[in-house]
Amino acid sequence: MSPIGVFDSGYGGLTILRQIRRLMPQYDYVYLGDNARAPYGTRSFEVVYEFTLQAVRRLFDMGCPLVILGCNTASAKALRSIQQNDLPGIDPTRRVLGVVRPTAEVIGSISKSRHVGIFATPGTIRSRTYDLEIAKLFPDIKVTGIACPMWVSLVENHEYDSPGADYFVQKRIDDLLTADPDIDAVILGCTHYPLLMDKIRMYMPDGIEIIPQGGYVAHSLKDYLMRHTDMKRRISTGGTASFFTTEYPEQFDESAAIFLDEPVEARRITLP
Ligand code: DGL
Repeated sequence: MSPIGVFDSGYGGLTILRQIRRLMPQYDYVYLGDNARAPYGTRSFEVVYEFTLQAVRRLFDMGCPLVILGCNTASAKALRSIQQNDLPGIDPTRRVLGVVRPTAEVIGSISKSRHVGIFATPGTIRSRTYDLEIAKLFPDIKVTGIACPMWVSLVENHEYDSPGADYFVQKRIDDLLTADPDIDAVILGCTHYPLLMDKIRMYMPDGIEIIPQGGYVAHSLKDYLMRHTDMKRRISTGGTASFFTTEYPEQFDESAAIFLDEPVEARRITLP
């Protein structure tokens, strides 16, 4: 087995896995959620890098030739170092890809006002990764990032549906529109946030497009594999998905079933 690995601090990457599997069901997949150490969004650059590298190494040990960081925080804080500094020493034929670039690429054709908002974890916002990526591709777009420190916790703790979630969602939407009233598109720059979609829709004024990442990341991966046939040939095609968590598997199974809309049976592992 040489599956595609998908990594996240917790459950968020499942929103990415779901779209990737929908588009390319033929491949084998391994999902690793570091639930025991989530959230990553409030952690330092060094810690996110260290944890992410441990997860990537573990997914390589499981046979993955390609790993997707299904986490914006890890993509923003660890991806470049892993690609440039670690991969050449570990195995230069393997690849690690992130979720920021494929999301930044689509924004140019969505925003008409050229004013775009980003909701993301404090770590992603502080890294300014989206600002930099979007500026490289579409220098005419003004980006306003809003950190949403509570949102991942609401999702990880099954509170995304509760009345308490309304307060935090509304608060961040107000912050965004106060910071830039001309925004016509908002990127959900954290893979946990699609679970809050109903609430975000409820408080977001009409005419502002809300952009979850999963579909774009999946299409970008498909395109990548079409351009890199050597990698495509290495990925096994049994159509399976296995799940690993660093916390209670029972708890993971219950939440993952909601994210994926199918039964899940995870196994527990420890990192590093
Ligand atoms: N899903 C992660 C992301 O996309 C959440 C990070 C966290 O653990 O705070 O940023």
